[in-house]
Amino acid sequence: MLNDDLNVKIGAVADIIVGSRKVVVFTGAGVSTESGIPDFRSPGGIWSKFDPDDFTIKKFLYSPETRKKQWRILVEGGLITNAKPNQAHLGIAELERLGKLDCVITQNIDNLHQKAGNSPEKVIELHGNMRWVRCLSCNERYPLEDIKQRLKRGKEEVPDCKNCHGILKPDVVFFGEALPEDALQNATYHSSNCDLLIAIGSSLVVYPAAYMPLYAKEAGAKLIIINIGETSYDSRADILINGKAGETMERILKKVKEKL
Ligand code: APR
Repeated sequence: MLNDDLNVKIGAVADIIVGSRKVVVFTGAGVSTESGIPDFRSPGGIWSKFDPDDFTIKKFLYSPETRKKQWRILVEGGLITNAKPNQAHLGIAELERLGKLDCVITQNIDNLHQKAGNSPEKVIELHGNMRWVRCLSCNERYPLEDIKQRLKRGKEEVPDCKNCHGILKPDVVFFGEALPEDALQNATYHSSNCDLLIAIGSSLVVYPAAYMPLYAKEAGAKLIIINIGETSYDSRADILINGKAGETMERILKKVKEKL
């Protein structure tokens, strides 16, 4: 993209943000790749390394082998717990500090929006959060770190609930599993009542999460997309920036602060 074209777009995005009353930011895995967490569908992404079928709720429930594999990946994968927020997360947290953020709706489970400084009550997590593990029988919740310590001691390969010996599952949404009803309703309400939705780092192919930009457009809001790759909503975007989330958000926030 020609630099002056990008400068014009950055300035236009900043003007729209300053002139908006209710800004919703919608994020996907692409906002966390600059924190070292691979996304799912880019070349080399997670689905090129792991079989999505192993991440279906059906297989997790009915295959002890799959549960063993999942817990091994979780215990070995320090990726998420050690990751730090990058400029994209920090820019979104800055929007909140400037009083310009209605909420951030995220498909991510890495807790990086909260780590960057967004208030937890302004972060709507459609696909759950990796910090917790839940018992599928009695609903007891455990911090993932406690379960990882149990597994690292090597006495068990598949943890069970200390309360009722039920199956424990990371508190994230697996394929074929319903999204948390309150989060989905909350996200739908905010997307349908905003005047600007900025979608960052998502291919926008997984539903019902990917309905959010549509709800915003149908409510008359402007749609801005910041993404390296193509998304299924590019033709509906009022402004489309095919660039890196971190540097783009850093430049947008610099312009917003000049204009506020
Ligand atoms: N800056 C901007 N865009 C980026 C960056 C970056 N640094 N890194 C990657 N991207 C873009 C990619 O080009 C891709 O289009 O982010 C998008 C990420 O898309 P996906 O990998 O499909 O991730 P996401 O849209 O979040 O997937 C949605 O699918 O597998 C499920 O539950 C999983 O929540 C996930 C859902």
